[in-house]
Amino acid sequence: MQTMKAVRIHQYGGPEVLQFEDAPRPQPAAGELLIRAHAAAVNPVDWKIREGYAKERIGHSLPLILGWDVSGTVEVIGPGVTRFQKGDEVFTRPDIARNGAYAEHIVVRESEVAFKPKSIDHIRAAAIPLAALTAWQALFDTGHLSAGQKVLIHAASGGVGSFAVQLAKWKGARVIGTASGRNQSFIMELGVDEAIDYQKTRFEDVIHVVDVVFDTIGGDVQQRSWRVLRKGGILVSIVSPPPPEEAAKYHVRPGYLFVQPNSTELAEIARLVDTGTVKPFVETVLPLAEVRKAHELSQTGRTRGKIVLKVV
Ligand SMILES: NC(=O)c1ccc[n+]([C@@H]2O[C@H](COP(=O)([O-])OP(=O)(O)OC[C@H]3O[C@@H](n4cnc5c(N)ncnc54)[C@H](OP(=O)(O)O)[C@@H]3O)[C@@H](O)[C@H]2O)c1
Repeated sequence: MQTMKAVRIHQYGGPEVLQFEDAPRPQPAAGELLIRAHAAAVNPVDWKIREGYAKERIGHSLPLILGWDVSGTVEVIGPGVTRFQKGDEVFTRPDIARNGAYAEHIVVRESEVAFKPKSIDHIRAAAIPLAALTAWQALFDTGHLSAGQKVLIHAASGGVGSFAVQLAKWKGARVIGTASGRNQSFIMELGVDEAIDYQKTRFEDVIHVVDVVFDTIGGDVQQRSWRVLRKGGILVSIVSPPPPEEAAKYHVRPGYLFVQPNSTELAEIARLVDTGTVKPFVETVLPLAEVRKAHELSQTGRTRGKIVLKVV
């Protein structure tokens, strides 16, 4: 059996359950590719799954390789693969129900993969798929944001928020973003028209009649967001499904999504990266073996842009 280095969990728990070890090297079946991973991004869902979040719903079995964001090189193509060949540089947010990308190799379905943007390296490419697809699917597929509309993006400096700001601006929307004081200049650089320091100002005191709220925080932030929407507007959450009865009280619509792999949207995002319209921001790069530190950083909830693990 061929092996590879990987980070696996054999039980749910804290960062200490992350084991850097040898694991079986997977082989692609029909319609699948084996990717030699060069970089894998860390997302909050990684440590949530590490802690046991949604284990019944997603149906993982242990040991499990975490990490669902990867940039690398196609090494083997399975039978029936038509769009890719050995040596292609690709990136993907693969199926979260299967083994992830904290490893030297990962098997993914052809339908989940797009060519990596040519203008950036694998580290920055790995920072894109999960967060940018989430922003795309929230703003466009669920929120139907259009040119001239006003959108409030919570946590505009985070992994998802930093892509959401850039995508909303590309769409021609007016963008209001929230972040703490230390990230005000960062979100202005991303392109927000109005930056709110949530530690100084309650956003609902200064923002009114927005068309779309993008909720990346949940809880109290979600509750306080209803009143800033215009009648008929939509609150799109990626954290917890907004209660329909609350939405009805404010004559607005609730939306929720869990990001799905989508190679067509990913290819469009790659094009926007190569034209310089959208940029990934990577705050921290760590070797794969330092994954525990990466999780601890992500769990602070203060990441600016993304954390990426360098695989080779
Ligand atoms: N449903 C889905 O498909 C899906 C997909 C992706 C992510 N998610 C979830 O969405 C959430 C955000 O993900 P992410 O990757 O963007 O997280 P992240 O990168 O860890 O977010 C960190 C950012 O949040 C900001 N922040 C923290 N508290 C804030 C507040 N009260 N108001 C405004 N900004 C605040 C921080 O800015 P400061 O340091 O300036 O405070 C920091 O830049 C996570 O819970 C994640 O699990 C869901």
